[in-house]
Amino acid sequence: MASLVVYESMFGATKALADEIAQALAEVGPVRVVEVGALAAEGPTLPDDVDLLVVGAPVHAFGMSRASTRNDAAKEQSPVISATIGVREWLDSLVVRPGLRFATFDTKVLTPRLPGSAAKAIDKHLRSAGAVRACPPRTFSVHGKSDGLVDGELGAARAWAATLAPTS
Ligand SMILES: Cc1cc2nc3c(=O)[nH]c(=O)nc-3n(C[C@H](O)[C@H](O)[C@H](O)COP(=O)(O)O)c2cc1C
Repeated sequence: MASLVVYESMFGATKALADEIAQALAEVGPVRVVEVGALAAEGPTLPDDVDLLVVGAPVHAFGMSRASTRNDAAKEQSPVISATIGVREWLDSLVVRPGLRFATFDTKVLTPRLPGSAAKAIDKHLRSAGAVRACPPRTFSVHGKSDGLVDGELGAARAWAATLAPTS
């Protein structure tokens, strides 16, 4: 199973999860992990040999980031990792191969637990475009905007990734 793990991250938490997920997926096949702006610069299509697409992003203002929320993030701590575009903008131009298996995840603060999900929005977009969900959207927790992952979330991400290989 060839996997492509795409992430958007301002402060590093979502990137750390993407790297962990990629490591787990490497046990069942070739994996590439790539920041969303770098992938978008390669064009609107994905390589034909990708069997599983995993997309991760931080929750900003109850959903996927926008230019305005990324600017707010850059005021908090600079430089940010995803300094060009976010998953929202990438999805707008992405050409999805019908039947492509995918999974989405996001990061959001543990407390206060706010409504909203980037992973659900990405999941909805990809399903509308004809891709096929490998599992429900998954949320991982951070302590605060830029305070890093809650203990245990890297291990949880690894376990989650291990469920993404097809069973038949
Ligand atoms: C502008 C901005 C808006 C945010 N809005 C939310 C929100 O609505 N709900 C939430 O739980 N976390 C929110 N957060 C916290 C982010 O989810 C957190 O910064 C992110 O998960 C950290 O991931 P990263 O290190 O990969 O950027 C927000 C952060 C920023 C910078």
